[in-house]
This record gives sequence, C-alpha cells and structure tokens, in this order.
Amino acid sequence: MIILSVKTCSGLDDLNLLSSVCCYWSARVFIANMPGLLLGDVFPNFEAETTNGKIKFHDFLGDSWGILFSHPRDYTPVCTTELGRAAKLSHEFSRRNVKMIALSIDSLEDHRGWTKDILAYNNEESGCAFPFPIIADNQRELAVALGMLDPDEKDKDGMPLTARCVFVIGQDKKLKLSLLYPATTGRNFDEILRVVDSLQLTAKNRVATPADWQPGERVMVPPNIPEEEAAAMFPAGVYTKELPSERKYLRYTPQP
Ligand code: BEZ
Repeated sequence: MIILSVKTCSGLDDLNLLSSVCCYWSARVFIANMPGLLLGDVFPNFEAETTNGKIKFHDFLGDSWGILFSHPRDYTPVCTTELGRAAKLSHEFSRRNVKMIALSIDSLEDHRGWTKDILAYNNEESGCAFPFPIIADNQRELAVALGMLDPDEKDKDGMPLTARCVFVIGQDKKLKLSLLYPATTGRNFDEILRVVDSLQLTAKNRVATPADWQPGERVMVPPNIPEEEAAAMFPAGVYTKELPSERKYLRYTPQP
C-alpha cells in the first residue's frame, strides 16, 4: 500500500485519487494500531467492577454525558488531591448532566479504604458516600485497552502505572475529548469543567470557543461559515476584527 502511494504521486488524476484513498487507509491502519482512542470513536462498552457495583459502561452513562478519569494508584498524594477536588466539584458535573467515574489499578477493597482518606482530606464526615464510582482495574486490563499506561512511572515491581487520563464522552457515546497527563502532574478540574462547558455549547451551536474562554464570554464564528450566512445565523451580531491581512476570519458573536 505504501509503495502504491509513492508511485501515484506522478500527477495522473485517477491514480492521484487512488493514492489519496490509499494514503487515507494507510493512515487509518497506522492509527488503528496505536493504543488509544480517536475523537469521534464510539467509546468501548466495557464491563467493570466498581465501588458502586458491576457496570456496563454505556448503561452506566444512560442519556448523560460522561467523564472517565484514571489515576496511577490508590493511597498516593497527588491522586488524593485530584479525587478530593473531583468529589468537591461533583455537583457541578451533575448540574451539567455529566456522570463521573474514576479508574485506578487497585482493588475494590483498596478503593473503599482510600475514599475514606479522600473524604478526610476534604474535611468531610467519614460516613459520607463517595459521590462517584471508582473502577477496580487491578489486572490493568482496561488501562491497557484504553491506552492509559504511563511507561515512565513504574510500581515497586517495575510495572507501569496508569497515567492521568481524562475522557469526555458525549450523549451519543462518542469520545469528545481526551487529555493525557503524566503521573507526576495533577490535573486542574476547573479547566475540565470549562472544557465540558465548551463541548456542550459547541455541540448545540455552530460556534467555537477562543483561548481561555469562560462561560458567558463572547464566542467565535467558525471559519467554515460564509460571511453572508453568518449575519443571519447570529442575530445578536457578528464583530469582525480588522487585521493586516485584510482577511475577515476573526469573527466574534455573543455566546448563544
Ligand atoms: C501521586 O499520585 O502522588 C503519584 C503517583 C505516581 C507517581 C507520582 C505521583
């Protein structure tokens, strides 16, 4: 397939078309062999044991959005601060109709003991229920299948730990966002909420959110909307910034 792609860069139209198709499929085959999921892929409907019982992922999600985030290990300091923060923000995720679920490569028993520590870290009553389930992946099966391992961080037996993965899944069960942090860098859950706000806004409206956007701020008109359509599409108005190139691509509109 690769030889054909090289041969067909000769300028012949029909062969060029064939070449493009082959190049596309070569890329897909290459990507399909890489660990991990691509944006737009239907998220695997895996089964797992969790602190709230056995789940089948799509049934767990139901009609909600979902966020699955992995952790290197139970009873570790950065993970404790992350799960503590995620637990404190759980009402913000539910307000956005996002179901939360965490994963760590330890047992249910460890997870149950660890959540008591996390609640204590949050200065909450030890009897409080933890607000979302944690998957027990002590055989690392799911971590491997979902491309979550961090080859640079190993446990005492030399086995790789899980990286800090974030998957946001839409109501159509497709992957909308993935983030991958190494074990040594804790995530910013305010940023994750901000991203969910952008994903949900842009799923409903043909807009894009600029750098550092916060909910309520102006948004951008995507470049594939022609000027004449933009005015009708955004009755609140479109402001176009003048630029040295005189190209009219930096277009803002109030958040719909
Ligand atoms: C932690 O969660 O503190 C951690 C875990 C693995 C490597 C480094 C830090």
